[in-house]
Amino acid sequence: MSSTQNSNSNSQTFPLILGITGASGLIYAVRTLKFLLEADYTIELVASKSTYMVWQAEQAIKMPTEPEQQEQFWREQAGVSTNGKLICHRWGDVGATIASGSFRTVGMVIIPCSMSTVAKIANGLSSDLLERAADVQLKEGRKLVIVPRETPFSLIHLRNLTTLAEAGAKIVPAIPAWYHNPQTIEDLVDFVVARTLDQLNIDCIPITRWQGH
Ligand SMILES: Cc1cc2nc3c(=O)[nH]c(=O)nc-3n(C[C@H](O)[C@H](O)[C@H](O)COP(=O)(O)O)c2cc1C
Repeated sequence: MSSTQNSNSNSQTFPLILGITGASGLIYAVRTLKFLLEADYTIELVASKSTYMVWQAEQAIKMPTEPEQQEQFWREQAGVSTNGKLICHRWGDVGATIASGSFRTVGMVIIPCSMSTVAKIANGLSSDLLERAADVQLKEGRKLVIVPRETPFSLIHLRNLTTLAEAGAKIVPAIPAWYHNPQTIEDLVDFVVARTLDQLNIDCIPITRWQGH
């Protein structure tokens, strides 16, 4: 095995991990992927086991389980056929690159993030690849951005989110703003995605930012 991790020549040095869970609103994940690929980022994607069921329930679409087919699936969903680099991982593959701190990344975004995954990361379970990758970001002091999607929050949810914030994660709830005069669902979603990527200093989404009065 090589001792150096290749960096690419595009706008990023190391890959970004995109975690997707079985929370409602997979459009958040699709829009995030679309903008990152269009901007030529390298993405390591892992979707939890429950994501398959939620795709089926919300979109009536069967998501493939094999990584090779998943790449095509996600690219079709995002509408980006060639730009960027996309590496998909099996949800249970805890031997994948992103399960190790020695594999360098710029951090990880989990969007949308279920309360189940919030609880498991907050308690260090690492019971699948997504949870392990998130655990690795925290132990390595890298950026972990969590976009929780649930309402209302119970006291348990709030305590788990507080634990993650105390451990260094950024919590960016899927709550859009209204000051940019949104006209479409994409306008609302893209605002949340842009604020999420702001936490990683990634600015690749043409949203209208507040300019003052
Ligand atoms: C259609 C559908 C929508 C769901 N939406 C949410 C949600 O918005 N937030 C949440 O925390 N759980 C939601 N769930 C429940 C999670 O999918 C469930 O807790 C699952 O175990 C999460 O697993 P994961 O975190 O490993 O993806 C939803 C389930 C279904 C079937």
